[in-house]
Amino acid sequence: MMNHMNFKTISKSLLKDISNNTDLLNKSILAFNLLKRNECAGNDFLGWFKLPNEIDSLLLNDIQDEANRMMSKIDYLVVVGIGGSYLGAKAIISALKPSFGSSEKEILFAGNSLSEDYHSELLSFLEDKEFGVCVISKSGTTTEPAIAFRLLKKLLESKYSNEEVSSRIVAITDSSKGALKELADKEGIKTYTIPDNVGGRYSVLTPVGLFPIAAAGYNIKDFVEGAREMSKRLSDSNEENIAIRYAACRKYLYDAGKKIEILASFNPRLHFVSEWWKQLFGESDGKDGKGLFPASVDYTTDLHSLGQYVQDGERIMFETFISVESNDSRLEIPLDSENLDNLNYLSGKNMGFVNEMAEKGTMKAHEDGGVPLLNISIPSICEKSLGELMYFFELSCALSGLLNSVNPFNQPGVEEYKKNMFSLLGKK
Ligand code: PA5
Repeated sequence: MMNHMNFKTISKSLLKDISNNTDLLNKSILAFNLLKRNECAGNDFLGWFKLPNEIDSLLLNDIQDEANRMMSKIDYLVVVGIGGSYLGAKAIISALKPSFGSSEKEILFAGNSLSEDYHSELLSFLEDKEFGVCVISKSGTTTEPAIAFRLLKKLLESKYSNEEVSSRIVAITDSSKGALKELADKEGIKTYTIPDNVGGRYSVLTPVGLFPIAAAGYNIKDFVEGAREMSKRLSDSNEENIAIRYAACRKYLYDAGKKIEILASFNPRLHFVSEWWKQLFGESDGKDGKGLFPASVDYTTDLHSLGQYVQDGERIMFETFISVESNDSRLEIPLDSENLDNLNYLSGKNMGFVNEMAEKGTMKAHEDGGVPLLNISIPSICEKSLGELMYFFELSCALSGLLNSVNPFNQPGVEEYKKNMFSLLGKK
């Protein structure tokens, strides 16, 4: 078993095409050099690039202490945020959390939709619980988290003194401007800063991701260490650099007419890692009428729904599989004397082995069906591997945008719905 994340091109013809395409590989290397020299489009948002090496251990300790302090007095921490201010923490916590009855303390999420039912159920649930709030918004003015925070703060105020309310809130926001910063300063709320040069979807290695992950009881130092090791591995400007290769493969396939990249995983724990990946690539790539549409599937579940389309539908997609090399548990398939389901040929085998064969079989079927395949493998689902994986995706995503001549760090399209919504709501 390997110890590190890896990336490879599965489809033999694609591997040949990419390896022979020195022009494209050189362009990907050039994009990397421009980024490294701070000379690329959007270069005022490159703080994430050096983040793994620049995170101060004092800050990590402070985040851990503050998370411990908060969790020692509450049973539920509600993390309020949307988009990049939510998905990184959600991805890591969902990947690491046991599926059932893990602990008495829980991280809940709010402000990532405008669902009246969800938020009203949440408030009723929290009424008689010990809870705190971690509100995350770089701008401090995003509608969804701002409404959720208002509601949650009001509930806290109905239960506790002003001083106690302030001690149950942590705000993660801009260093100097925005409504949230102003409120936190006024009410003595503990604040962490999102660096000016780190955009929302690239912020998982700032307090935006780290505070909720630490509060959930996971090891933020290992997570950062994974990212740091990956940043070291990705420091060379050559075609062995797997971020340079992944970005080149995406561009090659896009230019060859593919419109969709599907991130496929056979491990449901990675569901929200895929959601995070979709947001990262969707907001970074999709602009100026260009870009691959990032989609995701959870196999084998989706082999019984979207699998039909992937196998036989329009040939507009390629698939990137995330394989996990080892499971935490082993579950042996029992022998059954009746054998009515004809499964005795599998008795004594582990369920993980069956899943692995399903993955191999699916890869072959999809390749035979004309879907080019890429593969990312991680040794296991742990803080370190996830740190490696996320940093790899961040760099690959930035390079992909630059190769497609877009600024991967802005999101002008997001403003359009807001304009209409505010006008319909009568905002002055
Ligand atoms: O990636 C991004 O920049 C966005 O998805 C933001 O994270 C999202 O819109 C939330 O913004 P804010 O943190 O300002 O509330």
